[in-house]
Amino acid sequence: MLPVKERKNILKHSRPKDTWEGEPKLGGVYGEEEIEAAVSAMRRASDIHQGFGFSGYPIPEFEDAFADYTGAAHAVAVNSAGPGLDMAMKYLNLLPGDEVIVQAINFVAAPLAVMGAGGQVVWAEVDAKTLQLDPEDVERRITPRTRAILPVHMNGLAAPMDDLLKIAHDHPHPVHGPLAVLGDAARATGAEYKGAKIGPQGLGTVFSLHTMKNICTLGEGGMITTNDSRFAEYCRSTRFYGFLADTWGTSNVMTSVQAAVGLVQLKKLDTFVEARRRLALNRHQMLRDIPEIELPIEPSDRKHTYYLYTVLVKKDWAGEKRDKIIEIMDKKYGIKCIVANPPCYQTRKVLRQHTKGQRLSRSNQIGKRLFCVPIHPAMSDEDNAYIAAALTETICKTRAS
Ligand SMILES: Cc1ncc(COP(=O)(O)O)c(C=O)c1O
Repeated sequence: MLPVKERKNILKHSRPKDTWEGEPKLGGVYGEEEIEAAVSAMRRASDIHQGFGFSGYPIPEFEDAFADYTGAAHAVAVNSAGPGLDMAMKYLNLLPGDEVIVQAINFVAAPLAVMGAGGQVVWAEVDAKTLQLDPEDVERRITPRTRAILPVHMNGLAAPMDDLLKIAHDHPHPVHGPLAVLGDAARATGAEYKGAKIGPQGLGTVFSLHTMKNICTLGEGGMITTNDSRFAEYCRSTRFYGFLADTWGTSNVMTSVQAAVGLVQLKKLDTFVEARRRLALNRHQMLRDIPEIELPIEPSDRKHTYYLYTVLVKKDWAGEKRDKIIEIMDKKYGIKCIVANPPCYQTRKVLRQHTKGQRLSRSNQIGKRLFCVPIHPAMSDEDNAYIAAALTETICKTRAS
């Protein structure tokens, strides 16, 4: 039982003016600089000889800045992460029955990209503490049909890339050689792994610059980073009707106005990540003595961006009690928590049917235990303290019920 003083915590904090959502609609912060960058890019684009597109200025400048930031040799701007993942999967030329290993605790973009490219999704478990793809489970699921491993840097923390790359190397495909490892860093722009930024590891990494993400390019946008020049060329060509390589392609381009804003947002990224981290670390302190919840873990070789602040309730609180906590947080305290994410085969029929017979017990359990408590770089310490106190009190109520 928590001491009475902690249960009274909430009384000390005033209710936030804003309703905090588990995944706020604008993940970064926009200022006058973004507005000025957008307006000047629009002025430039208003010249009939210039226009908005064709991957001209300042799109290459944004790509170079993104490559420099992540330490990858190449960065290719696209219109969002979903098409970026589609392009990455198409690059593999999957044959029917070719398998790609994807975590079940996931957003739907990665498994849908595998399906879209004609491959077979093979679900794998995540580590129950970090929510990252579990290398041991991946290794168990490799078959002679496995072509790739597609880890998601889940909720802002880097996946265990070296372990996954070793497995990919140790279990080559009989025709194509070492398995491709492609990272989905939609939620992890700015995250670090073993002292380096996420971006250059594996065959490639796909980032989202969607409105909710760590930084955004006017609501939609994405970036693919890689050290592999063939893959970079393929992406550059495919994003615009395959002109460069005279291959199949489509239109997945970014506009010059988005890139101009992206350049400004990228300069602020580390500040946003630091703000999220400071709030998360303070919140860890405020919640650390509550035995019914596990707080997000940051392994010593990684730097979490805390895109989402993901909490797990203890096993015997899975399901109903977890849902009750979310309900009380909303109805009594005005704090909207979300479940990001239950296993994909539970949320989408198309994926359920595609992966018949593949249901994972650990993922099922984690899907009933996790929930995400709002965090955002613009959140005040006072709001953070209110949220921690509200969660503390909610857990006390749940315990007593
Ligand atoms: C893990 C993950 N992957 C991919 C995506 C797709 O990103 P986008 O909206 O840029 O297509 C998202 C978006 O929410 C995501 O959370």
